[in-house]
Amino acid sequence: MTVRVVVGAQFGDEAKGKVTDYLAADARYVVRTGGGPNAGHTIHLPEGTVVLHQLASGVLRHGVVGVSGPGMVLQPISLEEEMKTLEARGLLKGDVVISDRAHALLPVHEVQDGWEDELRAKRNPEATLGTTRRGIGPAYADRAGRFGLRMADLTRPALLRERLETLYATKTQVPGLPPLDELATRLTEVGGRLAPYIRPTESLLWDAIGQGENILLEGAQSALLDVDFGTYPFVTSSHPTSAGALVGSGIPPTEVDEVIGVLKAYATRVGAGPFPTEDTGERGEFLRRVGGERGATTGRQRRCGWLDLVLLRYASRLNGFTSLAVTKVDVLGGLDEVPVCVRYSMPDGSTVRDVLPSQSDDLTKAQPVYEHLPGWPEFHERTKARLRLEGSRALPSTLRRFLDRVTEETGVPVEWVGYGPGRDETVHLGRKPASQARTELAEWAG
Ligand code: IMP
Repeated sequence: MTVRVVVGAQFGDEAKGKVTDYLAADARYVVRTGGGPNAGHTIHLPEGTVVLHQLASGVLRHGVVGVSGPGMVLQPISLEEEMKTLEARGLLKGDVVISDRAHALLPVHEVQDGWEDELRAKRNPEATLGTTRRGIGPAYADRAGRFGLRMADLTRPALLRERLETLYATKTQVPGLPPLDELATRLTEVGGRLAPYIRPTESLLWDAIGQGENILLEGAQSALLDVDFGTYPFVTSSHPTSAGALVGSGIPPTEVDEVIGVLKAYATRVGAGPFPTEDTGERGEFLRRVGGERGATTGRQRRCGWLDLVLLRYASRLNGFTSLAVTKVDVLGGLDEVPVCVRYSMPDGSTVRDVLPSQSDDLTKAQPVYEHLPGWPEFHERTKARLRLEGSRALPSTLRRFLDRVTEETGVPVEWVGYGPGRDETVHLGRKPASQARTELAEWAG
């Protein structure tokens, strides 16, 4: 039995969907532990490309249970649509389970999200967060304020109506809300259809642990968007960290075996907020074009830049990564050299190596100091065929040097490398205990 947690190590969009789908092959349960329709996990299957928003990636595999867990905020109408679309394509192969404790994200929250971000923009254009406008912030706020409706409430019409009326009473200042009666009717109908999928999920997972099943906790967003430990206020409203995955599933910390940090070989960010290694020049444009860096949920262009080892060290310490999965190394193939940021130089002359300043404007002033590593060749079909046949031995030596550098700087071994979007375009580098990598880091630092 193994409980693995997959966490985004950058600003989201690290190809977590691809990595969880790959790891789901060994799992019996895959659990989404936070966020909601703001996520877009893209998975390239032989049958075509799928973008999952609210379902766990396990639903794409026979014999796997995909749990939309208690830490999520679920939009019931679009969740049902997502299930129907997958089913119509013949891709809903696993079982769907929806936590009765997950909060319902309602059209009210979507309207409020847009209204709030415009309000920020009116007061100060630089303060706008550029949220996905999917209602995430208001839904989590109502959860904390105890005005929220939970998925179980949708199966009890009288309670649903009562709670919806109270919720509406708190939102008199928000313009353009959908009529309450219409919404109550719609939610009752959808709730009735979703009822067979809604159930307690924590006991399901505890029983699974007792039976020795493998469980994969699929994080959405990323550590640097964590509401407390990210670049506040330019963050999402949940805890997309390893700790958040526990609260978002009900699994105790003592049951977790591995924490896998997922990162791209470069960096991107969508929406506003500090991004020290952003490259707004031609090379950034190159990354956007070759990496296809456009948001899977909103279609917005992603800001692009270089791997930031300061933020990666911070994310490693925050999450306790036991291994890393580095994705999209093929995008950098053919570059003469690959810049990686090893530290920040701050305006007061100090150096930052592994902490994130709590004030976002301090991070904006950080000057990244780069090391330029030798690039690796393009990934032609021939190289990909060799990788499939020979495994990690076929990785170019300069790419190995890059991966070793990541491990040297973080103390966390790289265990998987993604070299293309396809399900089979991932190579396993073998196991090296994190403790050994940390010892090497200490020796290197000393
Ligand atoms: P929200 O989660 O919609 O409230 O958006 C808050 C911030 O997090 C915005 O900058 C979004 O662009 C960003 N964000 C939310 N979800 C994702 C994601 O899945 N990938 C990348 N960025 C995200």
